[in-house]
Amino acid sequence: MSDAPALPLLEIEDLHVAYGHVEAVRGVSLSVPEGSIVTLIGPNGAGKTSILSALAGLHRPRAGTVRLGGADVTGLPAHRAVAAGLSLVPEGRAILGRMTVEENLVLAGERRQPPGALLAAIDEQCRRFPILGERRGQLAGSLSGGQQQMLAFARALLARPRILLLDEPSMGLSPILVGQIFEMVEQIHREGATILLVEQNARLALSVAHHAYVLEHGKLVLSGPARELAEDPRVQAAYLGGGH
Ligand SMILES: Nc1ncnc2c1ncn2[C@@H]1O[C@H](COP(=O)(O)OP(=O)(O)OP(=O)(O)O)[C@@H](O)[C@H]1O
Ligand SMILES: [Mg+2]
Repeated sequence: MSDAPALPLLEIEDLHVAYGHVEAVRGVSLSVPEGSIVTLIGPNGAGKTSILSALAGLHRPRAGTVRLGGADVTGLPAHRAVAAGLSLVPEGRAILGRMTVEENLVLAGERRQPPGALLAAIDEQCRRFPILGERRGQLAGSLSGGQQQMLAFARALLARPRILLLDEPSMGLSPILVGQIFEMVEQIHREGATILLVEQNARLALSVAHHAYVLEHGKLVLSGPARELAEDPRVQAAYLGGGH
């Protein structure tokens, strides 16, 4: 890990996300430098998923600006957000359990790539995650939780994103699998990916990230180098105590 400053790849300015009268995100500004892992931590209902949903084009932000590599990508619909380089691994993974591993990958990529290129891209992901290669023809619903998370990662990586948006990748997994998923996150990062990681497991998130933001009630309350936040008494009291 290095703290060397890099150009921001993703810049979010004064983002507001609302569902009717519920103001889930209230003026969030943050940036993710190219090649870094930035984490966004915070309690249930803080607005973490809402931020990622707005970035991935699943929910149009009410106000604010999002730039990727300098280009305005605010409020793009999902398929255009993917094409622009924003790829989401959603909370709960959203795997199609009654389809095979391969069908899940084909469905994710077929609108974007010609069949030959898509198959080559799927082969590449099956080499990256050999267990998916072995289970390529099996129903995705028969995979373990950790394997389903790998499938969700593979699906997002098919698009060769400029930035990978991870929403609670540790959710619902045993400690051993959580460790494996985080090793995967670090591996993907070493291969050059820029990552915005949303996590409730603050300890793990702060251990892999370069920079961190803390979100509460739709607003950022703290930010800084992840190592420093991990030492901050306020973060320790709220997020790192009690055997998290
Ligand atoms: N589709 C929706 N319709 C109405 N309200 C919503 C919707 N999605 C989220 N909210 C509300 O917006 C706020 C932020 O929710 P969000 O899911 O973004 O939080 P979160 O930080 O991801 O929480 P968690 O850690 O539980 O995943 C909450 O008050 C939530 O109830
Ligand atoms: Mg969430």
